[in-house]
Amino acid sequence: MEQRTNFHSKLGIILASAGSAVGLGNVWRFPTEVGENGGAAFILVYILCVVLLGLPLMVSEFVIGRHTHKNTADAYRQLAPRSGWVFQGYLGVFTSWFILCYYSVVAGWTLKYLLSALAGRVTTIDDSAAYFSTFTSSPWLPLLCMVAVMMMCHWVIARGVQAGIEKSSKMMMPLLLLIIAVLVVCSFSMPGSEEGLRFLFKPDFSKINSDVILSAMGQAFFSLSIAMGCLCTYASYFSDDAKLVKTAGSVALIDTIVAIMSGFIIFPAVFSVAEVSPDAGPGLVFITLPTVFQIAFGSVPFIGWFFAVMFYLLLLLAALTSMMSIHEPTTAFLLERFHLQRRTATWIVTLSCIFVGVLCSLSFGPLSDVRFLFGMTFFDFFDFVSAKIFLPVGGIIISLFVGWRLDRQLVFDEVTNHGALTFRLFPVYRFILRWLAPIAIGLIFLNELGLFK
Ligand code: TRP
Repeated sequence: MEQRTNFHSKLGIILASAGSAVGLGNVWRFPTEVGENGGAAFILVYILCVVLLGLPLMVSEFVIGRHTHKNTADAYRQLAPRSGWVFQGYLGVFTSWFILCYYSVVAGWTLKYLLSALAGRVTTIDDSAAYFSTFTSSPWLPLLCMVAVMMMCHWVIARGVQAGIEKSSKMMMPLLLLIIAVLVVCSFSMPGSEEGLRFLFKPDFSKINSDVILSAMGQAFFSLSIAMGCLCTYASYFSDDAKLVKTAGSVALIDTIVAIMSGFIIFPAVFSVAEVSPDAGPGLVFITLPTVFQIAFGSVPFIGWFFAVMFYLLLLLAALTSMMSIHEPTTAFLLERFHLQRRTATWIVTLSCIFVGVLCSLSFGPLSDVRFLFGMTFFDFFDFVSAKIFLPVGGIIISLFVGWRLDRQLVFDEVTNHGALTFRLFPVYRFILRWLAPIAIGLIFLNELGLFK
């Protein structure tokens, strides 16, 4: 087995963790949720959720990972040997693997749209809804795209922590932030974009109801990569002088800025085109946006082409850095528990995910009739079980574990680097973990299962 390495620099730590957090959740899921939940008011609730629940949970995962310097399963085994808590370690490893199987399918779509945009096709589609469904329901092309992005991710992970994850995050994240800045400027300069800004900035508090609050919490967890093995595994590669609370703060800040900027990119553009509506749902970036690019830039073809290419490149980069963080927990587990070579462990994860991902991908086409449990297809099933069952359950267990089971002093030493830093909010942090987080997440969970409907 190879030597365990750490991330080389503090910047690497922040960019890799931010790379995990910034993903399809920000650019694709966040604008969709904002559109469906009424704009500015949702954003305010979302920010509250990030600060009150997301940050404390992120710090907790960092504590577990950095204290043990082990993969997620072994981390829980070390902290609470032979107890039921060990289950959470395995759940984290399993959930990562499980999410990768379908996340890679959507990541594959972004690759296909990037290639189409490059070829100038996205801006000349007649019927973008038909284009989307013809593409996703065809058997081969989506599969090929999924395998292609998996192989990109594989290539990075196989290189290891420093030469793979850290180095590629240091290249991809700055590029991603630059693209966002360029797109925001483009989007603002479109006629009629003020309407979009009003939607994003003027809160209408009458729109806040329990559904909005619960959606905001779910989105915050998904977007910050909380509650499965990802952040915990990355934190196991943090050096002992890394500042956990500060790192979590920076990651949450970058993640939130990127999410809001994605709203800035999408909504002014959507509102400047009267025919499409902001609450178009998950098809927003794959169906609505091509129409927007076309109508808005019909007369200036180059800008339309440029906007589309940049946008789908942004989606692909965001998806890739997140995929890396979803791949690593399982790889690290196999590598360390079974003393495998990194190359072998990486192949096992990649190939098994491709194998299962095929089912998810085909569930939009040839396998669309294969239904189980409440009429869900393979893809729906994977999405439902991971995002709506594993994530909330994981979140509750982590907050209870760090709040009640771990020794108070151990946690305090970890967040203050053994007294080198001050953390005045420690009692608040502990209160949130012991009470607020488990209860609040419990509510999301029950709501998502439909108990309050
Ligand atoms: N946060 C990523 C996004 O915004 C997705 C992601 C990566 C994730 N790791 C995760 C979601 C862990 C939930 C749990 O797209």
